[in-house]
Amino acid sequence: MVCVMRLTRVIAREVKFMSDIILEVKDLCASFSTPEGPVNAVNNLNFTIRAGEAMGVVGESGSGKSQTFLAIMGLLAANGTTTGSAKLLGQELIGLGMDEINKIRGHTMSMIFQDPMTSLNPYLKVSRQLTEVLVQHKGASEKEARVQALRMLDRVGIPEAAKRFDMYPHEFSGGMRQRVMIAMALLCEPALLIADEPTTALDVTVQAQILGLMRELKDEFDTAIVMITHDLGVVAGLCDTVNVMYAGRIVERAPVDFVFAEPRHPYSQGLLASTPRLDEKIHDNELVTISGQPPNLQRLPKGCSFAPRCVHARDRCLGERPVLHQALPDRYNACHMEEGWS
Ligand SMILES: Nc1ncnc2c1ncn2[C@@H]1O[C@H](COP(=O)(O)OP(=O)(O)OP(=O)(O)O)[C@@H](O)[C@H]1O
Ligand SMILES: [Mg+2]
Repeated sequence: MVCVMRLTRVIAREVKFMSDIILEVKDLCASFSTPEGPVNAVNNLNFTIRAGEAMGVVGESGSGKSQTFLAIMGLLAANGTTTGSAKLLGQELIGLGMDEINKIRGHTMSMIFQDPMTSLNPYLKVSRQLTEVLVQHKGASEKEARVQALRMLDRVGIPEAAKRFDMYPHEFSGGMRQRVMIAMALLCEPALLIADEPTTALDVTVQAQILGLMRELKDEFDTAIVMITHDLGVVAGLCDTVNVMYAGRIVERAPVDFVFAEPRHPYSQGLLASTPRLDEKIHDNELVTISGQPPNLQRLPKGCSFAPRCVHARDRCLGERPVLHQALPDRYNACHMEEGWS
């Protein structure tokens, strides 16, 4: 009986998981105008994130990870332009005015950055910054907001939160500030949480606590999480799916276990081979690096952007760009080798 009930719960959760699309991105492009011509940082991205899903985004520096999500949040630099579509719970975000997007940011979707001072105001007490979120977005009273904000500070592991509540950001250590920012992002229980290298600057113990908190959020509140990171360990510990980005495009998307066990795109293979693994004894000279440089985003090659660095590349790769296609159930790949060479 218990077993049947458990199974029913699992099926119910799966059905919910399958149906709740939180973010649907179609043909998203972000480019920057510069004196040397346009920089094509994000090129025709398509993906969907569902409730309770944690999606990892990995790729070398400059591959377009941050700009993708800044474009979605309406936070590109002044010289940036976004085209395409990004629907959050069915509402189109691209092209929204400042006032409209501000209502959504910090409410239905929040972003956590590597540098907490991007989100915190140095001149306002932490208490004020946290309670304001609840008063403005949730219509809470000051008193209720203080109680909830303090509870959240406790939850993100700020010791003696009550004592520190009325301090200014500069009175907190770097790691503590990071936790305050995470508390702020979580206060409204956003449907979508975008985390851009949120734990890179933290020591490993705090890093593990923050990741634990994100797992709880995902499981308890069905929060959809985007985790942008260089750290494949973070991806393995949190994410359900992984998008591997190269030169502003997704080159592989698959459930996390597959990407680690058998990456199919030559770039994903290189990325994994160049990452030290804790479960393997590796000597310095055994770590492989991907030779060559990523392409200039102002002059993307006609064919596959990775072809100049790819050991498998053939003529077709230089002349024709492979599109991301479903190679196996749940597994997407943008490589001619996968499609068959003909
Ligand atoms: N305002 C801008 N003007 C011109 N180019 C820009 C601008 N902002 C970003 N870029 C370019 O967009 C590209 C993608 O940048 P992005 O920040 O998304 O990289 P990333 O994958 O997040 O890298 P990292 O891992 O280093 O954070 C880079 O080549 C970057 O130089
Ligand atoms: Mg980045």
